[in-house]
Amino acid sequence: MASLIPSILPRDPHTQIYFVGATLVLLIGVVFALTLLPSQKEDEENPSAFRSFLRFFYASFLKPHTGDGTGNGQQDALESFYKAQAGVYDATRKRLLRGREDMLGLVAAQLVHKAATERPHDAKRIWVDIGGGTGWNIEAMSEFVSVPEFFSSVYLVDFSPSLCEVARKRFARLGWKNVKVVCQDARTFRLEDHEDDIPGAVGFTRSPTVNYFAENGPSVGGADLITLSYSLSMIPDFYSVIDSLSSLLAPSGIMGVVDFYVQSIVDLSCRNYTGGAINRHVNWFSRLFWRAWFDVDRVGLEAGRRDYLEYRFGTILSADSRNNLLGSIPYYMWLGCSKKPASCLNTPNYPHEIVERLDAAVTESPYLSPVNHTQSLSRTVERSTPAEIRSKAFDAAVINLSANLPLPSFFYQNHHWRIHYDDQLKKHTQFKHEYIYAFTWEDSRVDHRLLKLGSDDVVLAITSAGDNILSYALSSPARIHAVDLNPNQNHLLELKVAAYTALPYADFWKLFGQGKHPEFRSLLISRLSPHMSSRAFQYWLNNTHVFISGRGKGLYETGGSRHAIRVVRLLATALGFRRQIKALLEAKTLNEQREIWTKKIRPMIISRLLNYLLVSQEKFLWAALGVPHNQLAMLEADHLASESTDSSSSPLGHSDKELNSTRGQAVWEYMVQTLDPVIESSLIGEDNPYYLVCLQGSYSQRCHPDYLKPKSHQKLSRGGAFDGLRIHTDEINEVINRLTPGTLTVAVVMDSMDWFTPGAEEASTQISKLNRALKLGGRVMLRSAALTPWYIATFETLGFQAKRVGARIAGACIDRVNMYASCYILTKVENLPPLTPTQSRSSRDGSVDLEKLEI
Ligand SMILES: C[S@@+](CC[C@H](N)C(=O)[O-])C[C@H]1O[C@@H](n2cnc3c(N)ncnc32)[C@H](O)[C@@H]1O
Ligand SMILES: *[C@@H]1O[C@H](CO)[C@@H](O)[C@H](O)[C@H]1NC(C)=O
Ligand SMILES: *[C@@H]1O[C@H](CO)[C@@H](O)[C@H](O)[C@H]1NC(C)=O
Ligand SMILES: *[C@@H]1O[C@H](CO)[C@@H](O)[C@H](O)[C@H]1NC(C)=O
Ligand SMILES: *[C@@H]1O[C@H](CO)[C@@H](O)[C@H](O)[C@H]1NC(C)=O
Ligand SMILES: *[C@@H]1O[C@H](CO)[C@@H](O)[C@H](O)[C@H]1NC(C)=O
Repeated sequence: MASLIPSILPRDPHTQIYFVGATLVLLIGVVFALTLLPSQKEDEENPSAFRSFLRFFYASFLKPHTGDGTGNGQQDALESFYKAQAGVYDATRKRLLRGREDMLGLVAAQLVHKAATERPHDAKRIWVDIGGGTGWNIEAMSEFVSVPEFFSSVYLVDFSPSLCEVARKRFARLGWKNVKVVCQDARTFRLEDHEDDIPGAVGFTRSPTVNYFAENGPSVGGADLITLSYSLSMIPDFYSVIDSLSSLLAPSGIMGVVDFYVQSIVDLSCRNYTGGAINRHVNWFSRLFWRAWFDVDRVGLEAGRRDYLEYRFGTILSADSRNNLLGSIPYYMWLGCSKKPASCLNTPNYPHEIVERLDAAVTESPYLSPVNHTQSLSRTVERSTPAEIRSKAFDAAVINLSANLPLPSFFYQNHHWRIHYDDQLKKHTQFKHEYIYAFTWEDSRVDHRLLKLGSDDVVLAITSAGDNILSYALSSPARIHAVDLNPNQNHLLELKVAAYTALPYADFWKLFGQGKHPEFRSLLISRLSPHMSSRAFQYWLNNTHVFISGRGKGLYETGGSRHAIRVVRLLATALGFRRQIKALLEAKTLNEQREIWTKKIRPMIISRLLNYLLVSQEKFLWAALGVPHNQLAMLEADHLASESTDSSSSPLGHSDKELNSTRGQAVWEYMVQTLDPVIESSLIGEDNPYYLVCLQGSYSQRCHPDYLKPKSHQKLSRGGAFDGLRIHTDEINEVINRLTPGTLTVAVVMDSMDWFTPGAEEASTQISKLNRALKLGGRVMLRSAALTPWYIATFETLGFQAKRVGARIAGACIDRVNMYASCYILTKVENLPPLTPTQSRSSRDGSVDLEKLEI
């Protein structure tokens, strides 16, 4: 809308607003006329669409909001607004107030998760709906849980008598005896006036004055759920109400808010506790317009309302969206909890204990409980390691605690899988909100055979699409550190882990076997959300089309690698061998498969022409397959070496020009050496899910990776199956930097070392870091595009013993993917000398003393 303004409207902002306003009124009129027809049976709760609209229109835009002159302040004003439209309220708001059902679904999912894990099953559960209006939300909640059974009592607090009246009628009609309508100002609502046995309230009645002076007094809240749907923006004294909520909320209770807002991203950029900011920014014109527009109805959209909420509570989940029905009004959903994370309710030494505990989990350092964490012990610890190893999450938490800010949202999540990272950094934003790999290109069967993980193993591996992480998890190692620089790859892993945890096999299969699930959005909201970090949740909420779009091919045609798949499909269509591909996938024997390949497909697909046109273009290779320049140079060098015997097989032995000149040839040969042996040795439709998914866009019941097997699902959906998982969004170096030396037993770095510039120091830096992080006897596993990568020699000088466990020579396959020329296991046989103090990072310097912090 805003983009049209300059061309069709006058320049003067006031006139602009006036014009846009007039257009919007018209628009709203049309929308309501369209959405509310055909009309339902007429009665108090269901008046005709046209009458609803007229009354809504009158009350919102024509009738002055001056009150009736009785001088009763806010209530008076509210009543003058709502009295005329109480009867039509629900009919007119159904579409206008979007996100209410989603918010209810999200809080219900959290409560159900808590009910299953934390509380005794028969516990009382109290819900307070602040500014509940006609009680529509409370009725709508029954879509997710049975309101009369799930809650021992529900309080609807609203200041407008006419809306309260509608609510009373509603609950009388429904016969829900546990719902109480309280017509009162939210500022003065206190639960202990209505409930007798609120913990902490026993023995003393908390008068407002006691509360007022005892700022850090005991928290006596008893509400397990507090919701505010589109009411925070209508409460003038929102500071007071939000403050009162924090004492209303039970220590482990949660809050759900949905409301309109307008905010600029600039104001938020220095806050990393908000749980992500996808779609949060509202442009200047919309900010101005919506604030002015809603001001007419006494609805406050200023940024402070949401900001204060986020400041006073911890953020569990938040998401921003637009109501497209009405000119893209921005609205948000937010789930919060007490600033003190629920996981440290019983920790006397909060905040340091929770932070230390998490820190230990991330860095593999022993967690010293407060009992033996005496002064002297801390000093010994500090002396023994030159600088204490701290995670970045720890550093971030300390900063925020010292500023009395909430912890980053990762600390309030139900699982500690995902580790905090700063999503604003260029190294993360460079991926432009897209993952490259929708599936992992490493044969997990070979990994399994080579690594034989046991329950003592501490594994560090690159996330990629997470498939291999999941297959390692099947061996239940003590710990898996999944590392990826691209946050979106980690979002994908989180989605998979959440799906194991919350979904039955049938849904899991639809999502990751077929790559499509028409109900993905509702599953995300009502099942997966309690098991995800706020950022991953936002990401998938913004990208639900991946799974539900009718047009697209689903998950496996998303991400950077889709380009490669599309090219194959395009070629197949253009050159007319789609039928042959289908036949290839249906082949029953290797002979049959070989026949189809050599006679029908190979001549067309592996022609030099196509190779020169498409594949040797570096840009294409990078985008489609993730092949960077340095890796390309390695296979070019290998090619040169195979041409003449005295030629070096390291890129260092050749000039750039020499390497470039052979590119087309080298890539062509590489492709042939990849594909031919695969066709020879594995039946794609039966046993090679890697090529199957490329060619067909989904897996089949017959052929899929191990992690998709029903038995794997059974194993990994058990509670605690992922307790050892830590998902880091960072470079490998940064992560191993912060691991306690000598703790890692296996590091799987895939082909990432190919990316280093040949001969550059980066490689030896990483190798020494790996050496320090690994236990003696620990292993590094890697794959490379070169038969003998140049950095293997570096490994050998830095305390490793190298063994090539797979080589693509003379038509042999190294695995079912066969994309790499070699696979190595490097075993640590020697400790490198410890770092000198100046080399080591001293994270303690300048950090804040936790003992002095208080929340
Ligand atoms: C836009 S309505 C939303 C109603 C309902 N939650 C819904 O989603 O349909 C805002 C509500 O906030 C209530 N409200 C405004 N100020 C209030 C206050 N100080 N105390 C209690 N309720 C208040 C109004 O009476 C109104 O019912
Ligand atoms: C004390 O610390 C050690 C680790 O150094 C830990 O194993 C032990 O359980 C701790 N003792 C108590 C009582 O927490
Ligand atoms: C709060 O923590 C974040 C990291 O989570 C940090 O970037 C931010 O600067 C901190 N805020 C303040 C005021 O220190
Ligand atoms: C938090 O965000 C700010 C602004 O983008 C950034 O400068 C800062 O480094 C971040 N801090 C952390 C620890 O995430
Ligand atoms: C959100 O979705 C839109 C539209 O699909 C897309 O353009 C945008 O990049 C997405 N943002 C993120 C952060 O994923
Ligand atoms: C070789 O190719 C790379 C990437 O296409 C290019 O940056 C480089 O300048 C080329 N070198 C020569 C000598 O042609």
